[in-house]
Amino acid sequence: MPARSPIPEMPGACSARTAARPSMPRARRPRRPSASWAGCDCRSMRAPTGEAARRARLSSTLSSSRQASVSAGNATESDTDLAASVCRLGPIEYAARGRIPRSGANCPMETPLTRPPRTSQIYTNVLDTIGGTPLIRLPEGFDPEVRCEVLLKLEAMNASGCVKSRIALRLVEAAEASGALQPGGTIVECTSGNTGVGLCMAAAVKGYRAVIIMPDKMSREKVDMLKAFGAEVILTKTGVPPEHPDHYLNVAQRVAASIPGAWHADQFENPENPNAHYLATGPEIIQACDGRLDAFVGGCGTGGTVHGTARALKEHDPSIQIIGVDPPGSVYAHYWKTGELPETGPYAVEGVGDDMIPGTWNRELIDAYEVVEDPESFAMTRRLAAECGLFVGGSSGMALTAALRHARRMGPEQRMVVLLPDSGSRYLSKIYSDDWMKDGGFVPRVSAETATVADLARDRPRATLRGSDDLASAYKHIADRDVDPVPVVAGDPDDPRTELLGVIDAEKLARHLAAGLDLEALQADSCLAPAPPVIDPAAPWTALQEALQDSPAVLIQDERGYVGCTRRDLLRSLARLSHDQDV
Ligand SMILES: Cc1ncc(COP(=O)(O)O)c(C=O)c1O
Repeated sequence: MPARSPIPEMPGACSARTAARPSMPRARRPRRPSASWAGCDCRSMRAPTGEAARRARLSSTLSSSRQASVSAGNATESDTDLAASVCRLGPIEYAARGRIPRSGANCPMETPLTRPPRTSQIYTNVLDTIGGTPLIRLPEGFDPEVRCEVLLKLEAMNASGCVKSRIALRLVEAAEASGALQPGGTIVECTSGNTGVGLCMAAAVKGYRAVIIMPDKMSREKVDMLKAFGAEVILTKTGVPPEHPDHYLNVAQRVAASIPGAWHADQFENPENPNAHYLATGPEIIQACDGRLDAFVGGCGTGGTVHGTARALKEHDPSIQIIGVDPPGSVYAHYWKTGELPETGPYAVEGVGDDMIPGTWNRELIDAYEVVEDPESFAMTRRLAAECGLFVGGSSGMALTAALRHARRMGPEQRMVVLLPDSGSRYLSKIYSDDWMKDGGFVPRVSAETATVADLARDRPRATLRGSDDLASAYKHIADRDVDPVPVVAGDPDDPRTELLGVIDAEKLARHLAAGLDLEALQADSCLAPAPPVIDPAAPWTALQEALQDSPAVLIQDERGYVGCTRRDLLRSLARLSHDQDV
């Protein structure tokens, strides 16, 4: 088991938080390039120079065990079996699962039948697995205008599924080392969720109590994760100004002051936050790229990830371009460009942006700033999952959107690394929910001039039953999946020409349930209502509105069969219609 290196001196340390939040970043300390090399135990050692220095820095930072874990081994029999069984899924089965086989780099049929398994090893606890995340190449052609190599650093592979586990561990261990956090103590932190998750994971392993304060806009999944680790969660109002007593930072300070033995982690001012990335994330990237890198792109929440990583990258090669990314409504991009704090505004992407300039953010290390709107960020996030198999959070889509803008100006021999901060599992009820995306206005709008019935009904969930299927299946589709009405056909439900027998709607099914009938024992065709009007998907969207004036539901028949649409569905789809000429 590799011993973790002691906490070294902090190069370029940030100053401690003052009572009132500063509106200007503090003056940077002069750089001390030879003071403490990443992970080096000997602080008085003079740094070597040039290429030798670079290699020495890297090899001392990255533990030999992590390096070993990327070396290949031999395929085992079970791997071979697994690969063979995956391979037995031919293109038809892929298609049946809604997956379209493609040619080119991503095509599942072109992957080798057996792969050497990644090596595994035994760790004392989950905290020792943090870091060493992989770089995944963005498939060629993902953006036809991009010619350079784009590598995605997949921080979702960290324990707890987020880049923040890196700083959580470092903050805790630094506090232990300094005596600020004692055995039996309490960790208090205000967070958009992910630092809290990392801290609570560390608290669970090390036996601390954890109290987490977070704004109430954060996803339900994050709150549930914190509770799963045994934390107490206090939700504060989103959008209150920093000077307000209910601002999450002020609440955290009061909570920390009220609990004996509490330690406020304070990721916004704690220099161990950027330090964690200076000592590990940056060197990992340099090593994986064998030192050859032209640009690094990442979003800023506290700024710790980008600035700590940037410091390591710039020390390695000052010509590496660092691109920060911000949502509109946050202060960073504007402050970076003008030196002035703008009005803040709402944005839905989580984990990035801020309404003030924390001590962990450093204007000088950034070469360019990009602003990305929520709809673009979320559309890119969904593309990453659907086209690359990368199930990541909204700020990953934000970072990649900004990255591609830059990458289009880079040459074919150049290389960019984009940091994808967290896993999509935290956003199942948000970015990965079609309803949430529609309700929030995050799906692309369609012009009222040209929209068709299909444009409005595009994302409706579908299900078609055979007459002989049981009624319990209809219940599941209507109650759990929001399919209404459910078409019932005589033949193959996947054959669009099959005969339509009628529909099962929520009203009729409710009468069966109210009468105490056993839905499992009844067939779908015992609960049929006459089919409502069937309309053509190519008709103008107004045809849908007209049909729904006379009938509470309609069916749209397209090349995949029938899909139901109710007045409520129409209402929600209409919110996506744009009456501007320029959509
Ligand atoms: C979900 C999430 N967590 C963490 C980070 C990094 O935040 P910080 O700037 O605080 O290091 C980001 C930045 O993109 C993020 O999106």
